[in-house]
Amino acid sequence: MAKSVPAALNGRDKVSNKTKISIVGLGYVGLPLAVALAKSFDVIGFDVNEERVGELRHGLDRTFEIDTPSLRASSMRFTTDINDTRDADVHIVTVPTPVDKDNKPDLGPLKSACDAVGPVMKEGAIVVVESTVYPGVTEDFCGPILEEKSGMKSGEEFYLGYSPERINPGDKVHTVDKIIKVVSGQTEEVTDILADIYGSATTGGTFRARNIKTAEAAKVIENAQRDINIAFVNEATMIFQKLGISAYDVLETAGTKWNFLNFTPGLVGGHCIGIDPFYLAHRANEVGHFADLILTGRRINESMGKFIADSIHKNLDGKSKILILGLTFKENVPDLRNTKVKDIITVLRDLGHQVDVHDPLADKEEAKQFLDIDLIESLSDLSGYDAIVGAVAHSVYKDLSTAAIEGMMIGKGLVADVKGIWRNTEFSPDIKRWQL
Ligand SMILES: NC(=O)c1ccc[n+]([C@@H]2O[C@H](COP(=O)([O-])OP(=O)(O)OC[C@H]3O[C@@H](n4cnc5c(N)ncnc54)[C@H](O)[C@@H]3O)[C@@H](O)[C@H]2O)c1
Repeated sequence: MAKSVPAALNGRDKVSNKTKISIVGLGYVGLPLAVALAKSFDVIGFDVNEERVGELRHGLDRTFEIDTPSLRASSMRFTTDINDTRDADVHIVTVPTPVDKDNKPDLGPLKSACDAVGPVMKEGAIVVVESTVYPGVTEDFCGPILEEKSGMKSGEEFYLGYSPERINPGDKVHTVDKIIKVVSGQTEEVTDILADIYGSATTGGTFRARNIKTAEAAKVIENAQRDINIAFVNEATMIFQKLGISAYDVLETAGTKWNFLNFTPGLVGGHCIGIDPFYLAHRANEVGHFADLILTGRRINESMGKFIADSIHKNLDGKSKILILGLTFKENVPDLRNTKVKDIITVLRDLGHQVDVHDPLADKEEAKQFLDIDLIESLSDLSGYDAIVGAVAHSVYKDLSTAAIEGMMIGKGLVADVKGIWRNTEFSPDIKRWQL
């Protein structure tokens, strides 16, 4: 059969502002990408979550990645009906790739997305996966589903691509329009098209990976590498705690060496670094390799919440009233997915302490529904705590005055500083301090 021309080129000699792009999944990754691409192309965003699409249509992004004026100014359109994406030349899939309760990849959302796109995509369409996956998922998992649902042949009648997303939630410096975008396609021509498309959206330029599996592998080791480096610092921190040395002091000192890597101890939660290494370990296992270092790193980082809670407990006099500041998985984002602050709370409660939790960015209903935590509304008028735990380095907590913190505590309380938020803050001599 004669190979069809990718639709993005159909009738034209290059990608143009008439190229139609559909983004499938409008979350932390999909929405900023869609808004960036809509500056150069005809973009439609599809999501199965009607509430999310309703909010976006009204200019509200609850992830805080895109502000209301930018969202309203964007030419992109939103839909919950996949049929509206039928004329897209390129479908970019940015749905979640979580793990199940056994830490195995859950490709359910990716399968649903392919089930939806397959029947509507036109001949010559390119389907690009942006979700983080293990090597092989795009071609060996998505490809066959798309073939079955479309009745078309992958690499001949439609084409696959992979372009990993590298943004960090809440990072306003390394944004989607500034970072180097890795692109890979099933054919050279598809890679060219993706380089043109993504190259229009970022000033960081594009990097053409040798092939799709290489691009998939590169993304997953970027995050696995971070996880292992943090695990090393976390393990060192556990040792230093026993030796009565501050890990932050040690890191500051060691950091004066030119090639010492800059990682800080703490909780590793969220949708990426705490999850993606399990994807690589799973694929390794399938090909007969036990991913020893990767899984050890995961185990150390997973144990950090309990380690922190036990350390705080040892610094308390009996059953205490504790205020935890911060619940989200990371500073200055509202994202509660896979937050490890929950582990600290659970252990402290199991040890018999009364634990209250505050987070100005987290959604109250989400915290209740998914974590069974009732967030307290406001810090004003709070008092009587034996311990204040700075668990997430939200700017509002960094800005709290000494008087405000001490005002919430009874007499000789404990300030436990998980993130080094108040490392340089002077408290009254009566206040006991604990930090990593
Ligand atoms: N959050 C990040 O900063 C980040 C960074 C790099 C890579 N990633 C990767 O990008 C992917 C997406 O992550 P995210 O943080 O944007 O997730 P998210 O949960 O914020 O957004 C995913 C969106 O997809 C929608 N969705 C789910 N199933 C769908 C389907 N079948 N069809 C259409 N829409 C569907 C959801 O309703 C949601 O709005 C994941 O693979 C993640 O690992 C995330």
